[in-house]
Amino acid sequence: MKVARLSTGCEALDELLGGGIEYNTLTNVYGPPGCGKTTLCLQAAVSCIEKGKKVVFIDTEGGFSKERLGQLSDGLDDILDEIILIEPDNFDSQEENVGRLDNICEKKDIGLIILDSLVTLYRLELNNGDIQDVNSRLANQLSTLSNLSRKRETPVLITNQIYSDIENGGVELVSRDIAKYQSKCLIEMKKFERGKRLAILRKHRSRPEGEEAQVVITEEGMKKPEKKFSFL
Ligand SMILES: Nc1ncnc2c1ncn2[C@@H]1O[C@H](COP(=O)(O)OP(=O)(O)OP(=O)(O)O)[C@@H](O)[C@H]1O
Ligand SMILES: [Mg+2]
Repeated sequence: MKVARLSTGCEALDELLGGGIEYNTLTNVYGPPGCGKTTLCLQAAVSCIEKGKKVVFIDTEGGFSKERLGQLSDGLDDILDEIILIEPDNFDSQEENVGRLDNICEKKDIGLIILDSLVTLYRLELNNGDIQDVNSRLANQLSTLSNLSRKRETPVLITNQIYSDIENGGVELVSRDIAKYQSKCLIEMKKFERGKRLAILRKHRSRPEGEEAQVVITEEGMKKPEKKFSFL
């Protein structure tokens, strides 16, 4: 049986995912700064809006750019009207907004929920709160998102910025594990020079793990390269 999927707007990634992001699951894209996580989110948002549905975009780090959206949507009129942009500036607010999503889906025809990124505000909160408590709140948010995707058949796309482990004393490994456990699809993005990127499928319900797709980031977004490139 073929499961419905939402195109990522990038042919190479769609092929990797067997057609796109699955509707009833949490898809998690992780990788270093600049690897293309937000680009992918914006492209998937455009793809969803082209299908006639609205998008909820929770931006926790100011990564949402109208200018970039314009480049990726090829001048699609009134695209901003189709995006419910939520910009929490602390972990409490992120939590509250994740809790509101079911209600938003009840009222509007939402075809995609994006949380970019999951852990920016979580990291800040770790400085204030009890680590176990903060971790359990993160796990609760993920569980809410996962349940929502199943209940509403709405794809949820989250991103996770990965810093080097030395930099963050292992704290991040915990959040990464929580997110990996809850996500049914994991895509790792690796960054190479001049727009070259490698997407690796790390977890999937019906596709081979370890499969790779080369992509390039251009003015028009993430694309399948004309021919395969070699890495330096
Ligand atoms: N118009 C453009 N033409 C070509 N490349 C672009 C263009 N706009 C942005 N980029 C490239 O896209 C990449 C940034 O991607 P993106 O913001 O999606 O990364 P990210 O993974 O979300 O990073 P972060 O973790 O910092 O949020 C950069 O390498 C940037 O040079
Ligand atoms: Mg980003």
